[in-house]
Amino acid sequence: MYHVKTMNKISKIGLAELDDRFEISDTMEHEDAILVRSAKLHDYDFPAELLCIARAGAGVNNIPLDRAAEAGIVVFNTPGANANGVKELTIAALLLASRKISQGITWVKEQAAAGADVAAVVEKGKAAYVGPEIQGKTLGVVGLGAIGVLVANAAAALGMQIVGYDPFLSVQHALNLTPGVKVVSTLEELYGQADYISLHLPMTPETKGTLNDAAFAAMKDGVRIVNLARGELVDTEALKAALASGKCAAYVTDFPNSETAAMEGVVAIPHLGASTPESEDNCAMMAARQVRDYLDNGNIVNS
Ligand code: MLT
Repeated sequence: MYHVKTMNKISKIGLAELDDRFEISDTMEHEDAILVRSAKLHDYDFPAELLCIARAGAGVNNIPLDRAAEAGIVVFNTPGANANGVKELTIAALLLASRKISQGITWVKEQAAAGADVAAVVEKGKAAYVGPEIQGKTLGVVGLGAIGVLVANAAAALGMQIVGYDPFLSVQHALNLTPGVKVVSTLEELYGQADYISLHLPMTPETKGTLNDAAFAAMKDGVRIVNLARGELVDTEALKAALASGKCAAYVTDFPNSETAAMEGVVAIPHLGASTPESEDNCAMMAARQVRDYLDNGNIVNS
């Protein structure tokens, strides 16, 4: 019998990959494997018998990789399994960064709560919340992995010009790019051309604070930024300055923090990128299979 500890609610469809040789529980003494979504394991004491951790998601910054490696614990993630869910929310985020949808919705609710005749005040909102179309604008996609490529292709289908940057662009992902997507070799080139920027980088010590003062200085005035990757990719002080000066006209993020969430131009979403039944099932299935294949056969398959 293998013992699998779940550290978050993991989809039942995913857990069905583990047959009755696997005992699954969120409270267990003996742990051969951990299935985790977003729970942070940095302070978690790994038991001596633990063999692997599977993260039902792409990012692994909630797992202490060094400590796991030292203990010989294999860490899996599920690259691509939630890419469509994140892509769809990124497209919504581009529109939220452009059209004043979120501000307009909040205003209507405030009018209703204040007892206004909402239908009668619509014209006021209509005049106040004007925002540009994305068609014909240039989108800079930073990171052309599974999600970045889907975003680039979907935004191109909406009529955007795409410039993409990725220091480690794989042949497989390059071949998946819609013809016409221009891949540039430096971030500065991308910053100089982009009206909109969408981040799709993993969070690592090297990528932390990628959008800093120098990066904002290289961007166009009024740039609109979408971040469904990780909050720490953007330096908070640099962002605050860019929002205050108007350098950055909008910042839509799936990783709100208290310092910027209430600022003008910021639309903050509570990490919903992969919160779809489809993405949750796909990630959980892939993670459960990884655990099964590793515990059964010692196979390490990260796809
Ligand atoms: C990811 O890294 O893929 C996401 O953070 C997944 C999630 O929402 O749990």
